[in-house]
Order: sequence, then structure tokens, then C-alpha cells
Amino acid sequence: MNKTIPYLFQIKGIGSEINGYITVAQSPEISFDVKRVYWTYYTPEDIVRGHHAHKSLQQVIFAINGSIVFNLENRPGEKYRFALDHPSKGLYIPPLYWRTIELSRNAVLLCLASEKYDENDYIRDYDVFKKEK
Ligand code: TYD
Repeated sequence: MNKTIPYLFQIKGIGSEINGYITVAQSPEISFDVKRVYWTYYTPEDIVRGHHAHKSLQQVIFAINGSIVFNLENRPGEKYRFALDHPSKGLYIPPLYWRTIELSRNAVLLCLASEKYDENDYIRDYDVFKKEK
């Protein structure tokens, strides 16, 4: 299902403070077939990543380490701010959300994506994004 509103969700960790935890990402929390996985790391604190939207890509993001803030905006101008501050928290991002991403220096951002990499799926100009029909 291709949803239209971004949302944060939590996947309960399996385990304990004594033995450590395992968290599993699968259906139904992941509602699309995952065709690509990528991760980013070692982002300097003063760098803001993102600055783009996707035409059709769906994503689920985890902060496997550190903390990450996602600022999202859709074309009508609705804005969302999500904090990923624990490895058990996931963020679903539907198509057509402009995003800027702030990462702590130790952050590892893991993305599960519904499509393989396609630069043609990107909108990298904010004004074009706001106007695109
Ligand atoms: P980009 O998606 O713009 O990263 P961010 O939103 O984190 O700033 O991608 C950065 C660069 O990496 C860009 O040149 C495209 C390239 N890239 C790939 O080649 N394959 C991929 O799957 C991804 C996500 C990016």
C-alpha cells in the first residue's frame, strides 16, 4: 500500500538489557517490497543532507546508531519534524515529501527503499517540487 502521510513507528526489540536486543523489520511494519538498502554514516554535524523529494519512492528509515532529525514537507506545505533517537524507531516516508536531514556525528542512517536507485525519481529543486503537478 502506498500511503500519503509520513509516520513514526516502533518495533519492539527482542531481548533484554542483560543479553542485548534484536529488532526485525518485516511485513506488516514494512508495507512494500524492499528493492534496495543503503546507509549513511560519518556525517559532520554542520552538514544538512537531503534537500530533495522523490516522485514515487517509498522509504523506511532507521537511526541504527546516533540520532537523526527528519524535516518533511509536502507540496501543499504541510510540515513534519520527526526525531529518530532509538534503533527501534522507524520512519515511513511516502513519495513527494521534500526532506532535510540532520544527523549526529555518530549517526548511521539505514534506509529500506521500495525501488532501486534512479536519479530520475529525484526532484532536487525545491521550487520545481512545489510546482510539480
Ligand atoms: P542522496 O540521495 O542525494 O543523499 P542524501 O539525501 O543523504 O544527501 O545521494 C547522495 C549521492 O549518492 C548522490 O550522488 C546519488 C548517490 N546515490 C546512489 O548512487 N545510489 C543510491 O542508492 C543513493 C541513495 C544515492
